[in-house]
Amino acid sequence: MVPAFSFSVLLTIGAGFVAASPHPKLTPSVLTIGDSTVTDTAGWGAGFCADTKGLANCINLSVSGTTTVSWKTFPEYQTMLTSCKTPETFATIQFGHNDQKVMNTTQFATNLESLTKIIQGAGCKPILVTSLARRVFASEYVPTDILGPYSNETINVAAKLKLPLLPLLNDSLTYITKLGKHQSMLFNWDYNTTNKDTTHLNSLGWAYFGRIVADEVHKYIPPLSQYIVQNKTLSDAIAIGTILPGDVA
Ligand SMILES: *[C@@H]1O[C@H](CO)[C@@H](O)[C@H](O)[C@H]1NC(C)=O
Ligand SMILES: *[C@@H]1O[C@H](CO)[C@@H](O)[C@H](O)[C@H]1NC(C)=O
Ligand SMILES: *[C@@H]1O[C@H](CO)[C@@H](O)[C@H](O)[C@H]1NC(C)=O
Ligand SMILES: *[C@@H]1O[C@H](CO)[C@@H](O)[C@H](O)[C@H]1NC(C)=O
Ligand SMILES: *[C@@H]1O[C@H](CO)[C@@H](O)[C@H](O)[C@H]1NC(C)=O
Ligand SMILES: *[C@@H]1O[C@H](CO)[C@@H](O)[C@H](O)[C@H]1NC(C)=O
Repeated sequence: MVPAFSFSVLLTIGAGFVAASPHPKLTPSVLTIGDSTVTDTAGWGAGFCADTKGLANCINLSVSGTTTVSWKTFPEYQTMLTSCKTPETFATIQFGHNDQKVMNTTQFATNLESLTKIIQGAGCKPILVTSLARRVFASEYVPTDILGPYSNETINVAAKLKLPLLPLLNDSLTYITKLGKHQSMLFNWDYNTTNKDTTHLNSLGWAYFGRIVADEVHKYIPPLSQYIVQNKTLSDAIAIGTILPGDVA
C-alpha cells in the first residue's frame, strides 16, 4: 500500500539525538457506508462511533433506503471520494437490506464488488460487513434468516478481494437467538409506539448492535483495535444473550 504522500518525520529524542522515522504514524479515520441499518438515527452507526476513542474521524456516510447501486447517487458518495484521499481511512461497507428487494444475489455480488473497488480505488481501506439481522422470528428462540443469501455474497466478495469481513449477520443472529423474540422487540425503532419495526434500531439498539460491531472491529481489524473502548459488562451480556437489567424499562 503506497501512501498518498511520503515523508520522513524527524524525531528529536533526549539531548539532541535525531532519528528518522520512515513510517509516520497516522491516526486512522472510519467512514460507515451502508443503508438505514447503519445510520445514526435507525442503525448501529452512532453506537459504534460512541465506542471509539482517538480516531481522527468517525463519519456516518450511510443513507436510508439505498443499495450498492443507488448509494452512489447521494452526496455521501462524493464525501467518500474526498474523505478516502486521507491516508489510513477505513470504510465499513454494509448493504443487502434494500438490494434484496430489487436484485438477485448474482447482481448483488457484482455491484458490491464494483462499489468496493471504487471505494478502495479512492484510497480507503474497505471492511465488508454482512447485514444486521432482521428481528423476525418463526418462534421465540428461532429467528428467520432473511439476509443469509445476500450476506453470503458479501463474504464471497471479501474473500475474492482479500479484504476483511465483519460477520454482523451471524453475530446479530446469534445474539437475538439467545435473547428470544420477546426481548428482541425492545430494540425496535418504534418500540414506544406501534412496535412493529423489526428492522430499524432505537437508542437501545444503537448501543447494543453498535457494541457488536465495535467488538468485531476490535477482533478482526488490528490497526483499529486500540481505538475501540472496551465495555466488558455489555460485551458479556451480549455473549450470554441478555439485556443489562438497567436497560430494561
Ligand atoms: C448521517 O446520518 C443521518 C441520520 O441517519 C443522516 O441524516 C445523514 O445524512 C447522514 N450522513 C452524514 C454525512 O451525516
Ligand atoms: C439475475 O438477474 C439477471 C438479470 O435479470 C439474470 O440475467 C440472471 O440470470 C439472474 N441470476 C439468477 C441466479 O437468477
Ligand atoms: C451461506 O454459505 C454457507 C457456507 O457456504 C452455507 O452453509 C449456508 O447454507 C449459506 N446460507 C445461505 C442462506 O445461503
Ligand atoms: C457464526 O456464529 C456461530 C455461533 O452462533 C459461530 O460458531 C461461528 O463461528 C460464526 N461463523 C462466522 C463465519 O463468524
Ligand atoms: C421510549 O421513549 C422514552 C421517552 O422518549 C425514551 O426515554 C426511551 O428511551 C424510549 N424507549 C425505547 C426503548 O426506545
Ligand atoms: C457499558 O454499556 C452499558 C449499556 O449501554 C452502559 O450502561 C455502561 O455505562 C457502559 N459502561 C462503560 C464503562 O462504558
